[in-house]
Amino acid sequence: MQKNYAESARRYMDAVAAIVASMPRRPAYYIETFGCQQNEADSERLAGMTEAMGFVRAADPDGASLIIYNTCAVREHAEKKALSLIGEAKHRKAANPDVLIGVCGCMTAQPHRMEEIKRHYPYVDFLFGTKAPERYPEILYNALTSNKRTFYPDDYDGVDVPAEDLPVKREMTWKAWLPIMYGCNNFCAYCIVPYVRGRERSRQPEAIIAEARELVETGCKDITLLGQNVNSYEYGFASLLRELDKIPGDYVIRFMTSHPKDATRELIDTIAESEHIAHHFHLPMQAGSNAILKAMNRRYTREQYLSLVDYMREKMPDIAISSDIIVGFPGETEEDFEDTLDAVRHAQFDFIYSFIYSPRVGTPAAKLEDTTPHEVKTERFARLLEVQNAISRAKNQRLVGQRLRLLVEGPSKTNPEVFSGRSFHAKLVHFTGGDESLTGKYAWVEITGADVYTLTGKFVGV
Ligand code: SAH
Ligand code: SF4
Ligand code: F3S
Repeated sequence: MQKNYAESARRYMDAVAAIVASMPRRPAYYIETFGCQQNEADSERLAGMTEAMGFVRAADPDGASLIIYNTCAVREHAEKKALSLIGEAKHRKAANPDVLIGVCGCMTAQPHRMEEIKRHYPYVDFLFGTKAPERYPEILYNALTSNKRTFYPDDYDGVDVPAEDLPVKREMTWKAWLPIMYGCNNFCAYCIVPYVRGRERSRQPEAIIAEARELVETGCKDITLLGQNVNSYEYGFASLLRELDKIPGDYVIRFMTSHPKDATRELIDTIAESEHIAHHFHLPMQAGSNAILKAMNRRYTREQYLSLVDYMREKMPDIAISSDIIVGFPGETEEDFEDTLDAVRHAQFDFIYSFIYSPRVGTPAAKLEDTTPHEVKTERFARLLEVQNAISRAKNQRLVGQRLRLLVEGPSKTNPEVFSGRSFHAKLVHFTGGDESLTGKYAWVEITGADVYTLTGKFVGV
């Protein structure tokens, strides 16, 4: 039976708002987000609901009466980082026993982690997973009105697609995450995501198009469609892109992530023919050896993967292609790894995210025998970076002397004189000669220098 959490969410939001209204001053909240853009999008929804209940945003956790940690579980490092920050909350609670501490997200969607936090982190007041953010007002209500700690494992059923019309508080006005689907059905052998995010659920195209239209009308210039595998969007991803592309305005549409087994030539043609869809394709390859791809349950071969890359470049010579690669999957031999290097050389990625394999509790790969010493894995990792860095640098250097149109993201963190922006092809550029008024707007920049990760340039005009 479909439970109507959206309706109960509204009732609980009203109830919390009434409690907050009776407080001497509006309490502040702080959300710490780990992991991918999907988690950032979830945090924006949590923030939207929290503000609708009367809380104000705190600049840092020190001043907050409500702190939420939205966690990630994709690799051990992500979990360690989250656990160590959650550990710091102990001192916050000791200094102020009234502060409410919540933990949610992919890490706590795993029963063993929920149990661990229950036992070893007694100052955490409430815990929930990922599957139904609209339960959050109820959870917060219970945390505020009882002295008991509350735990909401992701075992409730009947929840389909999250409710449409709950408030969202976006981080930026000119750049937005737009989830089009949730969950993953692929069960790649190494990956925890299908276990912590549940089965695929797609939003209705009308709801997505309406949200995108509203974003563009209110000045948003960069929309990233989100899903673990946008290509298996239930109502057709290529046709969704075609509909979105019809929205009039000066903006860019991006998407993440695409699974190569479902990336079609129709999709590539759609992008090539579109006006607004960025010429950037993030297409995780994971490995370049057919034996490893099979063991990973990726369901494509290196030949199929590389022929997709070739097709993209044939259709859009200016396209930027990026990828994710895992080094040291159980059983990866030197020969398998050489195949990965060879595929990387063939594909000529603009950039990659590479990771050393991290076993995840409950995944099939965690049960495989893994005899490769860690030093061998780190050495392979370094060799992969060396090959890719040379490619990235050479590709970036080809842009020196050209003019690129950027969406300006603001002053750089290290030098207020330098501004950062991103091109249609997702290239990050640091440039001089700009000013604060450019943030969130388009600017033309001449590229004057290039290295592995970034381009440098000077402002030419708007
Ligand atoms: N849905 C996306 C990826 C989500 S996770 C996709 O299918 O492409 C992001 C990246 O983390 C993956 O592409 C993979 O390269 C990496 N990753 C996932 N699980 C991992 C693990 N157990 N160890 C190391 N890297 C992992
Ligand atoms: Fe994980 Fe594979 Fe799903 Fe991506 S497609 S989230 S790597 S299981
Ligand atoms: Fe991490 Fe969950 Fe994203 S595991 S990478 S936050 S889907």
